[in-house]
Parts: sequence; structure tokens; C-alpha cells
Amino acid sequence: MNLHIDPITDSEEIPFDLLELADPSREQIELYLNTGTCYIAKSDSQVVGVLVLVQVGAGTVEIKNIAVKESEQGKGYGKALLQYSDKTSRELGFEKLLIGTGNSSLAQLALYQREGFEIDRVVKNFFVKNYAEPIFENGIQCKHMVILVKDLTTKPNGARL
Ligand code: COA
Repeated sequence: MNLHIDPITDSEEIPFDLLELADPSREQIELYLNTGTCYIAKSDSQVVGVLVLVQVGAGTVEIKNIAVKESEQGKGYGKALLQYSDKTSRELGFEKLLIGTGNSSLAQLALYQREGFEIDRVVKNFFVKNYAEPIFENGIQCKHMVILVKDLTTKPNGARL
């Protein structure tokens, strides 16, 4: 796959159009861009994806945003961004990788679990309390945040490192 993922540089524009595919709140996006690292995925020098990683505790990093340009979805780039998050977080010495998604984001819940994340907890009514407009996906109201965790201290087959 011809995909290059790198931290964004000062000369590059923050791809808000992509970040907003994953998170309808510009205010929330700007908050976590201040504390995290934004990575850009390019294919043939065209920006096709984005990722934001934020340290949220000792040894824990969270994927705050992950998105692939609509016309480029389904080509494996989302999976590559998740695998890059795992690799980069391990290299930085983190032990846990978190990702939160809505109760209505069925394809994402499937993808994250296939990539080794496990459901850890549910933050009830997170989207009702923090977003001005109701969000619907797959005919389901997005109310609760499902937090999934990947243990980075084990190999993918479960063996201890
Ligand atoms: N329906 C069902 N399965 C799908 C799918 C779809 N529309 N699109 C992709 N898949 C499957 C693929 O077959 C693949 O399966 P595999 O793991 O068995 O190979 C897997 O999902 C990964 O596909 P991939 O091509 O890597 O995903 P992607 O590049 O489309 O990126 C997202 C996934 C979620 C990042 C992307 O769809 C996106 O940006 N969505 C909008 C923003 C968003 O919801 N972000 C996450 C917020 S929590």
C-alpha cells in the first residue's frame, strides 16, 4: 500500500474537513489538537487520512480522532492508521491505547475489535451532554461513548512481551 503517515509539519494545513468527519464539534477538535499530536496520511502526496493521538494518563494514549477522506474509504487506510497508532504508541513507551466511539458507530466498533481493541466501559449520555445537535447513524441515536482499550504490553497473539 502506498501510504505515508507522518506528524503534521508547521507548513501543512490542519485538515479540518477530515477531522470533522469523525467529530462534528470544531470546539472539541481544537481542544485536543492543543494537547495532542496530529498525523497526516498521504497517498501519492494527496492527504487521505488524519489521526490525533493524545496522552491521557501515565502510560495511556488515546486516539482522539481518526478519519479517512470519503472517496478513499474502504481501501485499508483506516486499518493502517490504527496499526500505525499501535506501533507509534509502543515505540513511545505507552502501555494502553484507547479509542472512544458512539454506540451507533457499528462499522467502527467492528473494525476496532478486529484490530485488537476490547470494550472497556461506556460513558452514558456523553454525546447528549456534549453535542448541541442530536446525532443519528444506522437509524440509532448516538448517545453513549463506548471506550475500547488495546493492551500494548502483549503481542497481538496475547503473549506477554
Ligand atoms: N461497511 C462495512 N465494513 C467496512 C466499510 C463499510 N462501509 N468500510 C470498510 N469496511 C471494512 C473493511 O472491509 C475492512 O475490513 P477488514 O478489517 O476485515 O479488512 C475494515 O472495515 C477496515 O477498512 P478500511 O478500508 O481500513 O477503513 P477506512 O479506510 O474506511 O477507515 C474509518 C475507517 C472509520 C476511519 C473511515 O470509515 C472514516 O473516516 N469514517 C468517518 C469518520 C469516523 O467515523 N471516524 C471514527 C470516529 S470514532
